[in-house]
Amino acid sequence: MRIGPLQIETDVLLAPMAAVTDLPFRTICEEHGVGLTITEFLSAHALCEGAKKTVDKMTPSLYGRRFGVQIFGREPERLAQAAQMARDIGASLVDINMGCPAKRVVAGACGSALMKEPELAQELVRAVRAALPEHLPVTVKHRAGWDDRHLNAPEFACAMVEAGAAMITIHGRTRTQGFSGKSSREIIYKVRQAVPAHVPVVGNGDVVSLGDYQAMRAETGCDAVMIGRGALGNPWLFRDIRMHLLQEELPGPPSVAERTQVFRRHVRLMREHTPPKRVIHELRKAVAWYTKGLPRSAELRDRTAGLLDPDALCLIAEEFLLSLRDRVMSVTSGERLYLPDGQIGEGKFDLRARAVDNGPATVA
Ligand SMILES: Cc1cc2nc3c(=O)[nH]c(=O)nc-3n(C[C@H](O)[C@H](O)[C@H](O)COP(=O)(O)O)c2cc1C
Repeated sequence: MRIGPLQIETDVLLAPMAAVTDLPFRTICEEHGVGLTITEFLSAHALCEGAKKTVDKMTPSLYGRRFGVQIFGREPERLAQAAQMARDIGASLVDINMGCPAKRVVAGACGSALMKEPELAQELVRAVRAALPEHLPVTVKHRAGWDDRHLNAPEFACAMVEAGAAMITIHGRTRTQGFSGKSSREIIYKVRQAVPAHVPVVGNGDVVSLGDYQAMRAETGCDAVMIGRGALGNPWLFRDIRMHLLQEELPGPPSVAERTQVFRRHVRLMREHTPPKRVIHELRKAVAWYTKGLPRSAELRDRTAGLLDPDALCLIAEEFLLSLRDRVMSVTSGERLYLPDGQIGEGKFDLRARAVDNGPATVA
């Protein structure tokens, strides 16, 4: 996919997610083949005021990898200034959030509330466009519309493109829906039909498997897919999509050893890049992501609930993950794990017992 002058090799993007897509999370997804990551949405106002908490979240990807910065607000000058801050840290694109449904954001007439003010939204895109050098694309992420009676995404997207947006990402829910119901592929299709062909349209919402990815592409004609919640604890989804696009044979679900290894890598990144005060909080999130849906993960959460020592928390979580090596006998693809003691664990993840799992825990 091409976003203006920017070529994306793999047509899958990591969705911006507040309190999730920090540097460690983005790095893990990059290491598994995602096409591009984008920071969580950052208030243009807070950035311009120099608010440390917000400025600290505007972090370039490691090792010079490309990344986008997402900003939100409703003051053209502030958005323009925030976009220049993103440029200064080396962002490859600046995305404007026009989809956030959160009360505190729409109360300030930002995020998805801008879908009710297309002219102001256009002014914001123009201001950011004018503030950036030509090679840096300005993109917009928005929803299907405000509510069922105002599904204006196709017209809105065209207006953003007319103002200078080089890519549209569309989450097929309305603001009123929040995260309930389903992301409508029909509206994404309509946006793809409406927007000029040279401007990529990215479909977003409810993609948690390679099959969903394929269906989203096929049913909407979108140029790429953006994935958020489906990537939590499952960066292998990006690996699979990448390998599928390259027509390579998929290696199957991650083994217990691979899962443990990536968990360790994620933890290491968190400990390196998170302020000490927040480390335990962030580690808890990682434990929840990598163990969600696995047998006895609720027990693990109870056991670790009161722990304040990061080392102890990581040790227990690793022991839990590695203990699965001995318990997983065979696996069907899909939702169930069959265990030797006859239990069936419900879960989103597949585990495949492989030779490597039965060896010593050599993972770094
Ligand atoms: C915890 C969380 C935080 C989010 N934060 C943002 C954000 O900062 N900016 C944004 O554009 N969308 C945000 N979203 C919406 C996602 O980017 C995405 O549009 C939505 O989750 C649907 O995609 P999914 O079904 O793949 O998760 C957030 C979603 C979640 C679950």
